[in-house]
Amino acid sequence: MEAFNIHDLREIARKRMPRGIFEFVDRGAEDEVALRHNRAAFERIKLRPRVLTDVSQRHQQVTLFGKTLQMPIGVAPTGSTGLMCYQGEVALARAAKAAGIPYTLATGSMTSIEEIAEVGGERWFQLYMWPDFAMSRQVVERAKAAGFGALIVTVDGAMSGNREYNARNGYTTPFTFTRCNVVDVLMHPGWLCGVLARYVLTTGMPGYANYPEEIRTTLTARPIGKALLKHDAHVWDDIRALRKLWPNALIVKGLQHPADAVTAADCGADAIVISNHGGRIVDSALAPIEVLPEMVEKVGKRLAVIVDSGFRRGSDVVKAMALGAQLVLVGRPLLYGAAAGGEAGAARAIAIYREEIDRLLAQMGCRSLAEVGRDQVVLPAARA
Ligand code: FNR
Repeated sequence: MEAFNIHDLREIARKRMPRGIFEFVDRGAEDEVALRHNRAAFERIKLRPRVLTDVSQRHQQVTLFGKTLQMPIGVAPTGSTGLMCYQGEVALARAAKAAGIPYTLATGSMTSIEEIAEVGGERWFQLYMWPDFAMSRQVVERAKAAGFGALIVTVDGAMSGNREYNARNGYTTPFTFTRCNVVDVLMHPGWLCGVLARYVLTTGMPGYANYPEEIRTTLTARPIGKALLKHDAHVWDDIRALRKLWPNALIVKGLQHPADAVTAADCGADAIVISNHGGRIVDSALAPIEVLPEMVEKVGKRLAVIVDSGFRRGSDVVKAMALGAQLVLVGRPLLYGAAAGGEAGAARAIAIYREEIDRLLAQMGCRSLAEVGRDQVVLPAARA
C-alpha cells in the first residue's frame, strides 16, 4: 500500500531483488532505445476531455471472445515469474482471478499448467514452439485438458534479444554460480530465504514445469540438446497446424507489421498481440502503440487486436482502447508487484491501473471505455 503508482512498485522490487534478477526483468535489449521509446510514444499522444456528461456511473468492463472481463488489461506471459516471489505464477494467477482479468502462463514458467488450473479464473497459455511439433502438441494438449481459454503463440523469438547485462551479471541459461551472482544473492537475504531457499527446501531447485518431459530441466541444469530449443525455423504453417489442434481462442503474439497481421487472420487466428516484447528484442522497433491504428484498420474487422509494451499508466490503456485495441497486456508492472509483495503486491499493481483508468474515464467525460471517442485521442502527426 506504500506504492502509489507503478514506479513506486518498481522501486520496492529493485531494492528487494538481487540486481541480476531485477535487471533481467527490468531492462531491454542492446542500447534500450525501444524500451525508452515505448514510454516516449505514449507521452506524445494527447487526450481531449469532454465535460458535463454525468459520469457518476462508470465501469471499465470489456468483452473478449464472448466473455466479460472486469478491466481492459490481462497479465502478459513472462518466463521465470516464479523467481519474483515464492510461487510467483500462482500469486499472479490469484490476483488476476480476483480482479476478473485473464492470466497468461508462459512456457518458461516454474508452475505447471495443472497447478494454475487449480487456481481457476480466466487462464491463457503462452507457447514458444519447439522445432519438433510433437513437443508443442504435447504441451498444447495439456493446456486444452486443463481448460485454458486461449493459446498465445509467441512468434517474435526467432533469436532472443541481445541483453549484455545478463552475461555481465552472471545470469545465464543454465544458471551457474559465479562470484558475482553469489555475492549479489547474499546481499539480498530476504530474497534468498523467502524465495530461493524456500523452493529448495520444499519442491527443490525450480525448473521449467511445462517443458515436454524429454527436455524438462531445472534452472541450474544444462539444457538437454540445444537444438531442441531453437526457434528460428518456424513458419506460418505452424500456426495453421496449431489452429487445427486448438479449439479455443488462438492468439498470435509479437506482430508489428500489417502484412503479418493479415496472414495471422488468414491462418484463422482469433486475435493478435502487437508487441515489441517490452523492448527486449529489436532495439530499433517502433512502439506498439504507434502501429496500433494501422493494424486496427487492416485487420480490426477480422480479429481482436491486443497490444502490449510499456503500459505504465491508466492513461496508456485508455489511449490504446480508444485507438481500437480490445485488450492491453501488462508485463513488468505485475512482476514488480509480485517482487514487492507477492499476491498482494500483484493485486496492488492491478488496483493502480483500475484507479487510474476510472479517474481518467470521469475526467474524459466518459462512463465506459466504449464511450471514449476516437476524436478524443490526438496522435503526434495530427498535431504537427
Ligand atoms: C517477457 N515477455 C515474454 N513474452 C512471451 O511471450 N513469453 C515469455 O516467456 C516472455 N517472458 C518475459 C520475461 C520477462 C522478464 C519480461 C519482462 C517479458 C514479454 C511479455 O509478454 C510482454 O510482451 C512485455 O513484458 C510487455 O511489456 P511491458 O508491459 O513489460 O512493458
